[in-house]
Amino acid sequence: MSQPIRIAVVGSGYVGLVAAVCFAEMGHDVICVDNDESKVEALRGGDTLIHEQHLPELLDRYRNNRVQITTDLAEATRTCQVIFIAVGTPQSETGDADLSYVEAVASEIARSINGYKVVVEKSTVPVYTNEWIRRVIERNGVRREDFDVVSNPEFLREGTAVEDFLHPDRIVIGADSDRAAALLSEVYAPLTSGSYYTHPSCVPGDCSDHHPPPALMTSTKSAEIIKHASNAFLALKISFINAVSNLCEAADANVEQVARGIGLDSRIGPKFLRPGIGYGGSCFPKDVAAFRSVAEQMGVDFNLLSEVEKINANQKKRFLAKVRSALWTLRGKRLAVLGLAFKGETDDIRESPAVDLVEMLLAEGSMVVAYDPAAMKRAATELPPSPQMRYATSVEDAARDADALLILTDWTEFGELDLQRLHDMLRYPIVIDGRNLYDPQTMLQHGFTYLSIGRPTATPSREARNPLPESTAVGA
Ligand code: UDX
Repeated sequence: MSQPIRIAVVGSGYVGLVAAVCFAEMGHDVICVDNDESKVEALRGGDTLIHEQHLPELLDRYRNNRVQITTDLAEATRTCQVIFIAVGTPQSETGDADLSYVEAVASEIARSINGYKVVVEKSTVPVYTNEWIRRVIERNGVRREDFDVVSNPEFLREGTAVEDFLHPDRIVIGADSDRAAALLSEVYAPLTSGSYYTHPSCVPGDCSDHHPPPALMTSTKSAEIIKHASNAFLALKISFINAVSNLCEAADANVEQVARGIGLDSRIGPKFLRPGIGYGGSCFPKDVAAFRSVAEQMGVDFNLLSEVEKINANQKKRFLAKVRSALWTLRGKRLAVLGLAFKGETDDIRESPAVDLVEMLLAEGSMVVAYDPAAMKRAATELPPSPQMRYATSVEDAARDADALLILTDWTEFGELDLQRLHDMLRYPIVIDGRNLYDPQTMLQHGFTYLSIGRPTATPSREARNPLPESTAVGA
């Protein structure tokens, strides 16, 4: 490969830590900076702090050699040529992204610049942030010719972050100077040239030396918008299919069939058409709100995004109504809840619709026994254990004697339950599935009353012979 580049990555959350170890995996020398001493200690000791495939092995391989972990941003700035900012951009009360961490890091970088540096926005930021970073660095006395600001957004998903980083659909480099664009192209050359994929120990994925990822060169502002627009579009796709699922329920159609029919159109595609209890996580809710707010500030009507948010919030209320329609009253009912994470295969509960729904169920007076393979420790901070809220040790422990079982997260293992055993354990064989993990016919054959999203309810003949209107239905 070409010469290794000395790279600093500021922030060691999902994006920063994954970027740091992946740059090392690509052959570069990396300094990972975080101002949290305890985090730095943990990372140096090999604790990744997050649940992410391939991350433990990569951290183990590179920590304290090709990846140095430190709190010293000044030293990292002086020794590195490219500095990636990957700190948090949380949502402020108005929906805007709070950029105070980005600003603080930019000022600190500015005070240590000792030659030409490229400062790269990796965090998701609104358009114009690059100009603010530039202004902040200049205000700190750095000459314009001594730095450039580049936008290089990250599209990784939690759970598959390492694979997404090393096998991306595209690499977006938003740079307004040729010098900065060339340096960033060099950083990504091991991927774009395909050379990384020829290493026998490379992380497997869709890219190869024959099909390397393309690099898209844009202006910085376009790159900033690409990131927000991508997430907003994906959120829109989910809200769209959720709205269609509501129509399917009203019309007695099947949203799985409809989604397949829509997705086979190559212009639409089959991905992100899974209906459910709404999107969550650290990105979509925050980024849709921030994009809407940016548009508003710039005088652009983007009410479409408000509708996306409205449909998403409504999905949880509709699910609660579904639970009520199966169980009549909720006070005192013992409900088994499978899943607390915002999606499967992660321990992240940020903006998790599952956590919101448990809060709603508790407010209705239900007794919840929840199980999640990875997210219970984190969930306990939001939903502390109490006589009303218990954490189970297994699916069976949650299901035993429950009045109904609710599936709120699409963990693979929740789609592979032993249905006969489950039927025997539940007090009443009622499953309300917010993620459509089962085929209604199969559930019916196993004797369950099965409610899901956008598909007709499956009810054993005894109940079907005597149906009740939803508002007065008695499931148990
Ligand atoms: C997302 C983007 O995919 C990623 O590109 C960006 O960098 C960060 O945000 P992530 O939040 O990790 O990644 O999860 P993702 O797999 O995209 O799912 C987001 C939410 O949408 C989850 O709550 C998921 O359950 C939901 N979802 C996803 C659906 O409800 N239906 C779908 O069809 C797909």
